[in-house]
Amino acid sequence: MDETLEVLASLSEELPRLSPKYFYDSRGSELFEEITVLPEYYLTRSEAEIFDRHLDDIAQALGSGDIIIEPGSGNCSKVRPLLKRAAPSAYIPIDIAGEFLWAAAANTALEHPNLGVTAIAADFTQSWTFLEEIPKGRRIVFYPGSTLGNFDPSAQQDFIRQLAQVVGTQGGILLGVDLHKDSATLQRAYDDAAGVTAAFNRNMLAVVNARTGANFELKEWRHQARYNSEMRRIEMELVAQSTQTVTIGDQTLKFSEGAIIRTEHSHKFTMASIQDLAAAAAMTVTHHWLDSNARFCLALLQNA
Ligand code: TRP
Repeated sequence: MDETLEVLASLSEELPRLSPKYFYDSRGSELFEEITVLPEYYLTRSEAEIFDRHLDDIAQALGSGDIIIEPGSGNCSKVRPLLKRAAPSAYIPIDIAGEFLWAAAANTALEHPNLGVTAIAADFTQSWTFLEEIPKGRRIVFYPGSTLGNFDPSAQQDFIRQLAQVVGTQGGILLGVDLHKDSATLQRAYDDAAGVTAAFNRNMLAVVNARTGANFELKEWRHQARYNSEMRRIEMELVAQSTQTVTIGDQTLKFSEGAIIRTEHSHKFTMASIQDLAAAAAMTVTHHWLDSNARFCLALLQNA
């Protein structure tokens, strides 16, 4: 759908929202990199610590000669310890951002001369027709960063089922997800003292302005991130600080003071919910590893 129409439609819903895809222009990507090193944002460090602590065990669970496929590979940094220690035969990074992907893939190939690296520029949330290009062998899909949590539960299930198809009966899914915990720790992670996450959230309005010709006034919208412990998700929102009139395409939308636009969900998991997810794809959690504070979980899902 045309983006102007898409934005108009989602802002006109009962609970107005904007798609998280509007987070990522170059400024958004920069801000996101900053988020991952914030003192409050423990996720990236916790996941890295799991690899530090359990790398031998993880490598053993995977075996050697695997084909590691990483949807949303970004700068290919998370997979590094795995490539070093697990001795896969091939690495297939998949990302939408072409330029960035080629550079990251080229670096990875240079670092690992015996590894077959095939980068694929594609939207991995669509059908995986590109898989025909991938060499044969045992496939492991690596999906770190709790990215799965940004899908709503039914979409999480659909995606895991799709990955289960991709890896076949012999393969597996190596999934990194953030765990449910006290609200204060979670909220701090998504509402840091330096205001980086706030800037990241608000930048979405700049992206929408640029892509649809809308005229959102960024400074009139406040960042809000609350943990909904019943739904086990962080709800990221933008709250109008005064009455706002916004023109998009040929329409004018009015937001009263305190009006809310939902921009992102970040679902949190429990061991039980990870197992349920695996079961929905006829898989089981054969291994799992935690960081020392048990904040984050890396799980290996294989065919039941
Ligand atoms: N998946 C990660 C998380 O939910 C990264 C992320 C995606 C994120 N969208 C975000 C972090 C928005 C902060 C704000 O934490």
